Amino acid sequence: MIVERDDSGITEITTRRGIYIKAFDIYRDIGGFYDYGPIGLRIKRNIESVWRSLFVDKLGAMEVETSIMLPEPVLKSSGHLDTFTDPLARCLNCGATFRADKLLEKFYEEKKDFASLASIKNMSKEEIEKAILENKIKCEKCGKELKHLEDFNLLFKTSIGPFTADSGFLRPETAQGIFLDFKALSKAYPIKLPAAVAQVGKVFRNEISPRQQLIRLREFSQMETELFFDPESDRFDMNEISIEEVIKKKVEFIDAGEPKGPRSATIGMLFEEKKVPSKQFATLVYLCAEMMDEIGLPKAAWSFREIEKAELPHYSRGNVDIEIQTSYGAVEVAGIADRTNFDLKSHSEGSKNDLSILSYGKKVLPHVVEASIGLDRLMFCLLDTLVVNDRARGWKWLRLNSNVAPYKYAVFPLQHDDELEKRAHEVEHMLKEMKVRSYYSDTGSIGKRYARADEIGVPYCITIDYDTLKDRTVTIRDRDTAEQKRVRIEEI
Ligand code: GAP
Repeated sequence: MIVERDDSGITEITTRRGIYIKAFDIYRDIGGFYDYGPIGLRIKRNIESVWRSLFVDKLGAMEVETSIMLPEPVLKSSGHLDTFTDPLARCLNCGATFRADKLLEKFYEEKKDFASLASIKNMSKEEIEKAILENKIKCEKCGKELKHLEDFNLLFKTSIGPFTADSGFLRPETAQGIFLDFKALSKAYPIKLPAAVAQVGKVFRNEISPRQQLIRLREFSQMETELFFDPESDRFDMNEISIEEVIKKKVEFIDAGEPKGPRSATIGMLFEEKKVPSKQFATLVYLCAEMMDEIGLPKAAWSFREIEKAELPHYSRGNVDIEIQTSYGAVEVAGIADRTNFDLKSHSEGSKNDLSILSYGKKVLPHVVEASIGLDRLMFCLLDTLVVNDRARGWKWLRLNSNVAPYKYAVFPLQHDDELEKRAHEVEHMLKEMKVRSYYSDTGSIGKRYARADEIGVPYCITIDYDTLKDRTVTIRDRDTAEQKRVRIEEI
């Protein structure tokens, strides 16, 4: 069987099968907004379920749903109002706008100047502007030289109620609502530190140049977990997770500034080397690694990356990201951040409410470590990584594991025949009763139905044929090997 990775296969599949669709495209191509079709939504929800089984069930986080709208003072305190910006280059001739650091990246990439390319992430806005002017980088639309650079704030602004003085913003991360509610949660529930609060939800960022399908969006979903703890306490009460399983987990890790790529290490080794600053942070690294394994991301396709100081977000003292190798290059899909007590302290000051809590009889303003995973971006990178261009079969397919595949089984009657169709519906019904994700199809030749099932990553196809009517056996075809086995219906 000749099987090779294909770089562009994913768009062909996602478009043909409506896995995701450009939003409001029939009016205007605005960019950065996508809708999910039924298959895409199933895959997205399945990834979310894997996240929930680990971060909510295993870690024992309280799952919440907080407001998408945030009034201005919240984002003033969190620092987003002043610092959540990207450098924007505006063409004074045609008015086109570009993300300045990305333009510079492209320029150095084309010149194959990899040293300068690597230095961009440490550059200040002034240095980026100087490099754009010195290199006479041109506007991609009209070809004139770019002259003007500004800081562009990524928050989407609106007004709350009829009084425009009350500005509101769509949240840029789900985390803020968790910080605001933590004190109330600690009163309603008997919180003892460490304690985790998690949420999945939509966030909005007015990206200057959204691109690469689900990788850079203006509206997307995050799965975030905030783990609150007392930095002076050594307690490790992480529900079903033991420190032994955390420290022995092996991961691939890229040290900050290391050009050679990842090395293998256990989380315990990274903790001893202080690459992982606390046991709580180590726990999130462990859960993220488990999550990548459980959604079926091949080990060779991803690694953790230690973030250089100059690249850290304003609230973080240290970050370890997850990067996946895709056809667009390495893409960050998650960030684990040591947020200290930055957020609770800022909101205590901003709201004039003391957000410290009582834990084991001690008053503490907890520190927070966070695991923030981009759901859409992770889904895209997973699909991109798992496309198989199978020349022998003559079609491309997705090697999705059962945890995330939209359906585990497809059920086919061999051909149009009342008896076969009746028996196939019985099998489909039996699977549904067993809460197994499955679908029925009698449209097209059996080969075409296999191809359509493979294409969306269905692991097994069950075919009902004339032998089924005699002996209650069916064939089960394995997507990965294309081998077929005969089993009795009761053994499925
Ligand atoms: N609360 C921390 C936080 O929001 P972040 O690194 O800005 O951290 C976390 O975002 C994750 O959200 C990223 O690792 C990425 O997967 C996803 N993400 C960020 N910006 C995105 C965008 N414009 N489009 C799609 N996903 C995005």
